[in-house]
Amino acid sequence: MVDRTGTPLVELRDISIAFGGIKAVDHVTVDLYPGEVVGLLGHNGAGKSTLIKCLSGAYQKDSGQILINGQEVEIKDPRDARAQNIETIYQTLALADNVDAASNLFLGREIVNKWGFLDDAQMEAETSKIMGRLNPNFKKFNVPVSALSGGQRQSVAIARAVYFNAKILIMDEPTAALGPHETQMVAELIQELKAQGLGIFLIEHDIHNVMKLCDRASVMKNGQLVGTVDVNEVTDDDILGMIILGKKPAHLAA
Ligand SMILES: Nc1ncnc2c1ncn2[C@@H]1O[C@H](COP(=O)(O)OP(=O)(O)O)[C@@H](O)[C@H]1O
Ligand SMILES: [Mg+2]
Repeated sequence: MVDRTGTPLVELRDISIAFGGIKAVDHVTVDLYPGEVVGLLGHNGAGKSTLIKCLSGAYQKDSGQILINGQEVEIKDPRDARAQNIETIYQTLALADNVDAASNLFLGREIVNKWGFLDDAQMEAETSKIMGRLNPNFKKFNVPVSALSGGQRQSVAIARAVYFNAKILIMDEPTAALGPHETQMVAELIQELKAQGLGIFLIEHDIHNVMKLCDRASVMKNGQLVGTVDVNEVTDDDILGMIILGKKPAHLAA
């Protein structure tokens, strides 16, 4: 069980973003606690990606507040997000295809030795250490990541985030392109990250994955928040009803 008595890791309060006349996100409030996975659900165009992009620094909110550990922060660009230990795992993974896992893990943040040369041995050792923790079955250290499966690529991207101290992970449909076995692998990775106390916002369409992976689900429709529910207190159909009808089931409506 996730402890939600303390201060949330992330609070997105009353966030609004419009594009032209379209209210992509309309006064939405969601939060996330350490060790928690909060699913963001809703039809295409509901505003899920836009909402999390204001946390990742890809977009700037028009109004509302972002609090990290109870403190209001300004996130103007992805660097500001990274400074708050927020990392995003994109659906189309931003990996360099022609180099190996270690090179990807340290891409742009390479370890150099005291003479200023790349310390390959050190980077490989760090890579095998963190991959051993996150994905013990991973063996393909010396091949370009283009030769890896979708799930293995996912684990490299997650290792990269975790190595650089991510506390808050944003995952936009991480299992969308994966088969059942690979989806299971990503599910296990998410469990491991939770156990380490990370908080994860997970955009996910598959209701079975939502029920399996998420602690709470926040449903959006037409830019607005329909509601947030504890997945242990609802059925698949309750959540699907929220997505389709845009309201909470009668037995949960306040
Ligand atoms: N950069 C943008 N410019 C204009 N409209 C956008 C932009 N990004 C998103 N939108 C619009 O905002 C709304 C929400 O989109 P999005 O957040 O991508 O939804 P979801 O991720 O739930 O599918 C949609 O109407 C979409 O067309
Ligand atoms: Mg989206």
